[in-house]
Amino acid sequence: MSDNNWTDSQRFDSKASEWDANAVRAALADAVSRAILAHMPVSRPEKALEFGCGTGLVTLRVAPGCGSLTAVDTSREMLRVLSEKIAAGNIPNISPLFLDLTQPDAASRIEGSFDFVFSSMTLHHIPDTRSFIAQLYGHMAPGGTLAIADLDTEDGMFHDDVTEKVHHGFDRDELKNLIESAGFTNVSFITAHMIEKKNRAGQRAYYPVFLVTATKPQI
Ligand SMILES: C[S@@+](CC[C@H](N)C(=O)[O-])C[C@H]1O[C@@H](n2cnc3c(N)ncnc32)[C@H](O)[C@@H]1O
Repeated sequence: MSDNNWTDSQRFDSKASEWDANAVRAALADAVSRAILAHMPVSRPEKALEFGCGTGLVTLRVAPGCGSLTAVDTSREMLRVLSEKIAAGNIPNISPLFLDLTQPDAASRIEGSFDFVFSSMTLHHIPDTRSFIAQLYGHMAPGGTLAIADLDTEDGMFHDDVTEKVHHGFDRDELKNLIESAGFTNVSFITAHMIEKKNRAGQRAYYPVFLVTATKPQI
């Protein structure tokens, strides 16, 4: 599953049980969920996909607005925590799925096309942003909405572990070009949240988080 340490399942496996206890993460997920809900298609999406769902901090808030929601992640432990929440809440419309969407066999593991695809804080963990966005386009139905939250370009100090392979956030203009190159239209950004945390240098720092939305055109 690991791609030169980019998709580091073990790292997230080891964090899963403590994931929700982090107040910075909880505040971020709350803000991103509200931003995603505000930008969902007016007509209720029948078939939604979330990539990098983690323990479901965003998943569980967005799911009530969807018909069915496939929640994929590459960490079995993150998915286990999510599955426990689904069982405890008797939530019928979320299907957790262990899947790396960047892998060539991914398309054969998910059925049909999605009218809503969303994510929070996962795009920076995916090595080839351009080809991944193109893959997402292929998984979406005409008229479908894409909503991705992630870090604006950061100073490289956001993540605590210097060995972790990640993009240091994204430049909005570059990401817009890349999303448009894949074929999406109506690409638009808002600032969904401002993370305030002690960074790797031990300094209190602020990291803006965008939500970018886009549409796959009707044929
Ligand atoms: C920073 S966490 C965010 C989790 C969740 N969205 C949240 O807001 O709490 C990134 C998640 O993406 C998952 N991930 C990393 N690479 C992935 C990939 N290629 N496909 C699917 N999930 C991936 C990780 O296992 C992790 O659960």
